Amino acid sequence: MNDPSTSSGSPRAQSRGDRLVAAARVDDDAQYEAGLRPRFLAEYIGQDRLRDNLAVSIEAARGRAEALDHVLLYGPPGLGKTTLAYVIGNEMGVPVRATAGPVIEKPGDLAAMLTNLQQHEVLFIDEIHRMAPAIEEILYPAMEDYELDIVIGQGPSARSVKVPLQKFTLIGATTRAGLLTAPLRARFGIVHRLDFYADGDIEEIVRRSARILDVVVDPDAATEIARRSRGTPRIANRLLRRVRDYAQVRADGRITAEVARAALALLEVDDHGFDEVDRKLLRTIIEKFSGGPVGVNSLAAAINEEKDAIEDIYEPFLIQAGFLDRTPRGRVATPRAYRYFGLTVPRRDSSLW
Ligand SMILES: Nc1ncnc2c1ncn2[C@@H]1O[C@H](COP(=O)(O)OP(=O)(O)OP(=O)(O)O)[C@@H](O)[C@H]1O
Ligand SMILES: [Mg+2]
Repeated sequence: MNDPSTSSGSPRAQSRGDRLVAAARVDDDAQYEAGLRPRFLAEYIGQDRLRDNLAVSIEAARGRAEALDHVLLYGPPGLGKTTLAYVIGNEMGVPVRATAGPVIEKPGDLAAMLTNLQQHEVLFIDEIHRMAPAIEEILYPAMEDYELDIVIGQGPSARSVKVPLQKFTLIGATTRAGLLTAPLRARFGIVHRLDFYADGDIEEIVRRSARILDVVVDPDAATEIARRSRGTPRIANRLLRRVRDYAQVRADGRITAEVARAALALLEVDDHGFDEVDRKLLRTIIEKFSGGPVGVNSLAAAINEEKDAIEDIYEPFLIQAGFLDRTPRGRVATPRAYRYFGLTVPRRDSSLW
């Protein structure tokens, strides 16, 4: 593509809400995700170091017949945090009770969940950074001493009673580890960050999902799909499903490299899996801020996006892919970003890249 930015003005460009390469879950992902989720560590592809570490922790806990230490999983959307929470439950041989930070409205709701847990069971709290402070405080003694501190009565006659809990494992997941309070974070014994997957791992995920969906994908086609998936399994699975539709309707059902390329072109998925917002962000740094450095607040204002969305969703992938740098003075477009738009790389102070 000579000037990839022109497609952003196209009326057929994906609207923000349903962008094909969004890492966040969209409606039709839900019905497939359950079937495609690996259930045991051995099926979980990639994140090798994390997997090895977890395997040791799990085997040790099982060997001692203890509950696994509390686990915090953090990283960008769609990389497998929820999947891993259930994998841990399966490996420990215990059920996983799931809830989410914003869903827990009253301290009593959480207290009820905690008191219902059986020995060594897992309580999974998704979006754990979005818990109300009054609710979070219940977790402190629960995690540390396996007990609830409950205040009964009001005023001078109020007294605190301790209710013992079974030894359980809390698994918290968040895209924003930075938003966790220090006391909460400190109570997790096992903390792991999930990273974007290497292309080879995404390819393997595409092949595995294709087997489950019962569709034939040629190796080159798996490579094509993987390359555009932003290192994110959720996006890989979504692209695979869309390419499968195309193969069924416009070809004989088999996903060859040619079919994959044609389908992805029709879907307007760019070679790097970039969408309009990625391109706008890079172009703005290059054109309005002379390539940077520019502070994230100014950048957010210039492209009319939330600062949080830039930091959590767009930037991590652009940095990982080598198109953007985060320096102490702000964000900088890399030579790679200039080349992507077919622009000449300006000569500049080398300390900036
Ligand atoms: N290691 C993996 N191997 C194979 N498939 C995976 C792997 N990790 C994730 N997936 C697939 O990606 C999908 C999304 O993963 P998951 O829902 O666990 O992401 P998440 O990190 O919890 O995202 P969010 O932050 O949006 O909650 C899953 O349905 C699963 O099919
Ligand atoms: Mg999740």
